[in-house]
Amino acid sequence: MVKLNTNENPYPPSPRVLEAIARAADASVRLYPDPEAHALRAQAARVYGVPADHIMAGNGSDELLALVLRATIDPGDRVAFPVPTYSLYETLVAVQGGAAVRVPFPDDFSLPPALAAARARVTLLCNPNSPSGTLVPLERVEALARALPGLLVVDEAYVDLRVRARARDGRPAPERARVAHALQVVLAGRAAGRLAFGHPICWPGCAR
Ligand SMILES: Cc1ncc(COP(=O)(O)O)c(C=O)c1O
Repeated sequence: MVKLNTNENPYPPSPRVLEAIARAADASVRLYPDPEAHALRAQAARVYGVPADHIMAGNGSDELLALVLRATIDPGDRVAFPVPTYSLYETLVAVQGGAAVRVPFPDDFSLPPALAAARARVTLLCNPNSPSGTLVPLERVEALARALPGLLVVDEAYVDLRVRARARDGRPAPERARVAHALQVVLAGRAAGRLAFGHPICWPGCAR
């Protein structure tokens, strides 16, 4: 049986990954790691074609989503997201004392127009969405970002699983990263199984 309801890899890691972990498990594990993850961010910057100081690293995208909300939400602020979606958003908004604005997806899981109309301080978009697996094309995400008064956070935890959809969408990761870079968008996601890391990409200033 393959468990699909969490962002886990049903396949074992490549032997080269296990070798790299074994190599890294040396005497330095008694020390704290580089808190700013310079090496990871430099590599991510090369892959996505954006400056390294516009990238944050975190212990999985859950941590990054929590940090983004902690940094941006005051008690009572509105946080909008289409539903049904990733259930943790409710919890993260509640932890910050925010007001969740739940906007129902239409039957085809396209972007609900009421999302932009909610005029929230932060809008969360899980893309591809969990549990529907549907993808909002980049043009729509761009248009949403332009229509919003606040911050748009796009959670791309599952984007690498939508290979065919990405091919149809025709937008490679660097192009999405550039959109995030230019607009009020934080692109969160990219986990590597339980060895989770995440690196949101965002416009200048937000990452600092
Ligand atoms: C939509 C979505 N976002 C984020 C996460 C969290 O992923 P991570 O393991 O990187 O914290 C999950 C995990 O299942 C998820 O389903």
